[in-house]
Amino acid sequence: MWKTGAKVSLLALCMDVLFFTHLVSGSFPRAQNVTWTSTNFKTLLTWGPKPSEEYSYTVDFSVIGQDRQQNPHCIRSGETTCDLTRSLTQLKKTYEAEVLSEPPRGATSDLIEFPHTRSEPFCPYQDTDIDKPDFKIVEGKDKRSVTLYVVDPLTALFNNQQQLTLRDVFADDLQYKVTYRRASSTGKKTYVSKTSQVELTKLDQGESYCFTVQAYIPSRSTNKQLGAFSHTHCSEGERSFTDVYSVQVIIGGVLLILVLLAIIIAVTVVCCRRNRAQKNEKEGVPLRSV
Ligand SMILES: *[C@@H]1O[C@H](CO)[C@@H](O)[C@H](O)[C@H]1NC(C)=O
Repeated sequence: MWKTGAKVSLLALCMDVLFFTHLVSGSFPRAQNVTWTSTNFKTLLTWGPKPSEEYSYTVDFSVIGQDRQQNPHCIRSGETTCDLTRSLTQLKKTYEAEVLSEPPRGATSDLIEFPHTRSEPFCPYQDTDIDKPDFKIVEGKDKRSVTLYVVDPLTALFNNQQQLTLRDVFADDLQYKVTYRRASSTGKKTYVSKTSQVELTKLDQGESYCFTVQAYIPSRSTNKQLGAFSHTHCSEGERSFTDVYSVQVIIGGVLLILVLLAIIIAVTVVCCRRNRAQKNEKEGVPLRSV
């Protein structure tokens, strides 16, 4: 009788302990603000809050409707970011990720389902932000045209050992939008080019123009079509005399010429006088002797 009572209370204690651990497991905070951050196909999943020692995060991801996968770096980790650049291999497919709050590595829990938060859908090809391109300008001999040589930006993707450019990935879907204006005015014009070499013609002859370039992918949804603006580069145009030399330099030059003239005149005058004096002397001597 007595022994059975002890057994029952021991069982109750065990139940309590189980219940207690269960409660701890149940307090794993759910991940918040699960967000995709992606530029030129470098793709991170981020969330919060930073986990305590008591729990960790695991990221599951999949093409929507297909089997779930995991990235070995994002299993039971204390980080709040997961680099999925190399994991999202099917660029045109739409992925979904889920951040699970789990016990720390090595610990176990009797929870069957961990708290989890699902991300927004993400398609690398449609959604990755496009960084600013770089370009150089070459002015036409006729001074009425300019050619922009745009360097296709590199992506974070590799094919074997080779790093891919935006052109490698987007091919003909990639265009460039050039925004330009005369250096002396604010009125802007735009030009869309299907190639990375952009020739702008019929410019005002000899005028200086300023250009900025951004990637343009018309096949995407409207708010994702344009990439970041490049730096602005200006052509030189045909610069007038006063653009090339400052007013000070011109005044200085004129003064220098005047000073030189004055010296020449002074020297000439002095020389002439002396010459005449010598001549007079020479001519004078015979006269006197006569
Ligand atoms: C989630 O985002 C909201 C609003 O931006 C912010 O107030 C909150 O602190 C964020 N939570 C975490 C855990 O980062």
